[in-house]
Amino acid sequence: MATSYDAVEYPTLPRILGHPGHIAAVARMFGVAAPPVERCRVLEIGCGDGVHLTSCAVTMPDAVFVGFDLAADAIARGRQLVERVGLKNIHLEVGDITTWQPDAPFDYILVHGIYSWIPDFVREALMTLVAKSLAPTGVACISYNCYPAGYTRQMLWEMMKYHIGERTNPDEMIEKALELARFIQFCRPKEPDVEMELFDNDVDIVINKQFRNVLFHDELSPTNHQVHFHEFADDARRHGLRFVSELEPHVMANADMPKEIDELLRTLSRVNPERREQYFDFACLRRFRQTLITREPHEPRGVPDPAAIRGLYLTGNCGTDAIDFHSDKPMTFAAGTTAIDVIGPIAKAAMVVLVETRPRRLSFPELLAATAKKLGRDAITDKEADELATDLAIAWTSGLVLLKAFVPRYATEISERPVASPFAREQLRREPNATSLLHLALRFDDAPGRKLVQLLDGTRTLDDLVRELKPIVPADKWPGEAEFRKGLVANLRMLALSGLLVA
Ligand SMILES: C[S@@+](CC[C@H](N)C(=O)[O-])C[C@H]1O[C@@H](n2cnc3c(N)ncnc32)[C@H](O)[C@@H]1O
Repeated sequence: MATSYDAVEYPTLPRILGHPGHIAAVARMFGVAAPPVERCRVLEIGCGDGVHLTSCAVTMPDAVFVGFDLAADAIARGRQLVERVGLKNIHLEVGDITTWQPDAPFDYILVHGIYSWIPDFVREALMTLVAKSLAPTGVACISYNCYPAGYTRQMLWEMMKYHIGERTNPDEMIEKALELARFIQFCRPKEPDVEMELFDNDVDIVINKQFRNVLFHDELSPTNHQVHFHEFADDARRHGLRFVSELEPHVMANADMPKEIDELLRTLSRVNPERREQYFDFACLRRFRQTLITREPHEPRGVPDPAAIRGLYLTGNCGTDAIDFHSDKPMTFAAGTTAIDVIGPIAKAAMVVLVETRPRRLSFPELLAATAKKLGRDAITDKEADELATDLAIAWTSGLVLLKAFVPRYATEISERPVASPFAREQLRREPNATSLLHLALRFDDAPGRKLVQLLDGTRTLDDLVRELKPIVPADKWPGEAEFRKGLVANLRMLALSGLLVA
């Protein structure tokens, strides 16, 4: 039977945070001995066309990926892509949550965009399936819409649905929903309205959606089951599963909380992490969660374990301006509106190493060696390394350092005959979106850029590329051969930095 997802295609994208290498790192930081990633088994429930899983499968040849979805068209599209790229470690199939059976346990289970959007009996089957399919120290990641901020979104959904009335044609429904959202936006006060800021933000999100089809499936879905975190945690526990952490550690941080509340929440973190999460949702008015769960008897630890950093890979995700290792003055590392002050020469030097080497992922021993070198020392002692791990755990929960449990292979230098990821080349034959070997979603809206990636199959030198790209550059935009060549090298460097070139 054709589903609404067959009728209206849902644009699936690779989710960098849904990569098992990310999930494993977060779970290990929160006390779960998450299975080794290189040879893991991954299941995605409701995988759509499987682009996310396929992108993971490209760089993890020894791991096994299984995805199923009710929408036959999406699965057919996904299978075609898998076949064209020639991947043997991924299996996509048509299946229903209420009847699908695992053939063996899975180390990582991904459930994105499903829990809130299915009827009650399917949700019950979903949690039963996750519990049945998860390996003993496996980790599942489930996303869902949550309260308290879900209430303001509900207001907008109800208004849009009223305006849609009896219409059933998806295009008309989307048009009517947007019409209503624009009407509301027009009526709202032009000055910032603190009381209704959340609602105004929801209206903006609807109007500015990148993909109209997402509006149809997400906001206009007949089912949109929102829950408080404690209800989700209870649901998990009823199925023998326990809360581990959120997928993005920085959303669990107390960044702008008043000091007394911050201390209260910290204390609660140690005593009852699940209760702490609920109060934190109230305090920050949360609307969406991506929660990691594992099997009981796991006891949530509430605060990250710095010792786990020793087995993970680190990347800087911030910048700094003044480098000053040896004075008492703190150095500030910042990204966007988040900043931390770092004191002590070792922590400062380690953070500078991470900033300078990004996007490379450094193992902890590599970081220690580079830090010692930066300070002109032979080595960092074990005690100093422990203190550094504690500082890095703070930087991680602030989002300024990234931790992963896996390093994909990709080229950082441009070879004589560069090769782009075969998966990205195949994607670009059909659409402007491509996934890099670092699992980043990239978009190529310009014809020469898209063509360039497709030409990178290892048979062409720089001269060949210039010759073949020239005819598709509009004559009035052709900068001359020397300039074009310079631009081409710069573009190839960008591709290398994004992890699009094969090593
Ligand atoms: C919002 S989309 C999310 C797709 C993908 N997980 C992502 O994040 O891009 C929801 C998906 O769940 C699938 N789905 C809904 N009910 C299902 C069921 N009972 N069994 C299997 N898949 C189902 C839909 O076909 C659709 O592809």
